[in-house]
Amino acid sequence: MSPSAAAPVLEVTGLCKRFGTLTAVDDVDFTLERGASLGIVGESGSGKTTTARILVGLERATAGEVRLDGELVGTSSRRQRVAQARRIQMIFQDPYQSFDPRLTVEEAIAEPLRLHFRLSAEARRRRVAELCDQVGLSERNARALPRQLSGGQRQRAAIARALGIEPAVLVLDEAVAALDVSIQAQVLTLLDQIRRDTDISYVFVSHDLGVVRAVTDTAVVMRLGRVVERGPTEDLLRSPQHPYTRLLLDSVPEPGWDPAAVARSNRALAAAADAPGDLA
Ligand SMILES: Nc1ncnc2c1ncn2[C@@H]1O[C@H](COP(=O)(O)OP(=O)(O)O)[C@@H](O)[C@H]1O
Ligand SMILES: [Mg+2]
Repeated sequence: MSPSAAAPVLEVTGLCKRFGTLTAVDDVDFTLERGASLGIVGESGSGKTTTARILVGLERATAGEVRLDGELVGTSSRRQRVAQARRIQMIFQDPYQSFDPRLTVEEAIAEPLRLHFRLSAEARRRRVAELCDQVGLSERNARALPRQLSGGQRQRAAIARALGIEPAVLVLDEAVAALDVSIQAQVLTLLDQIRRDTDISYVFVSHDLGVVRAVTDTAVVMRLGRVVERGPTEDLLRSPQHPYTRLLLDSVPEPGWDPAAVARSNRALAAAADAPGDLA
């Protein structure tokens, strides 16, 4: 099937993942339209990372399917898997691990270009400079080693490296969680800008509703592996229907925040669901 502008870029149906007796992901459905940004929110342990890892083929689903441009992910031939890996890229909380410590930032960004495109050395050099420019890395940053950069700069480098492959979908798992709030805002603004300038789509995984509000149009709320609520992000945050979503919202520290009330509703919800709740 060839990608058509109208079809969703990503379709997830009945996704399940079991680890032994634990069901980490339980019958999850969602679709991602081209150029859209979908948030996956939920507290720690709700199955967000497992879902993200299945999307990019790092983990195999126990049941259900993921379609990228209409094609099944994870069950195809090696050649298809390579092609899919190029279409969907993942950014982690701290990309430090995925950078070779001996390569400069510009070398790291050039590497996938060498792998996926036939460019002259000069064209590749220009493309790396363009990507650095796009994410706001200076020439000095580009010549530095990963460990010489700040967390925010390293995340920009990871974004530049992923963008170089021109993916259709970028999956970001807690991508700004380790950054200071002001740096978070800069990286979120950058991501928003990139989405407006290209037709890239995001799956944005975060436990932080404020972050999700900044960069997504729609969101699903996960709890204990299940989607408990979904909808336009603004509506979800303005008038959450599910008690768990309300609880997540109440757990965001802000003026007037009442930790004792959060702990009380948390206990009530856990008792109601007859399931462990560790929100507080
Ligand atoms: N490789 C694994 N083996 C066993 N259990 C796992 C594995 N990965 C995740 N889990 C469990 O699956 C559940 C969901 O985890 P995860 O997807 O990381 O949630 P989140 O990203 O929302 O914090 C957790 O209970 C976690 O301990
Ligand atoms: Mg996680």
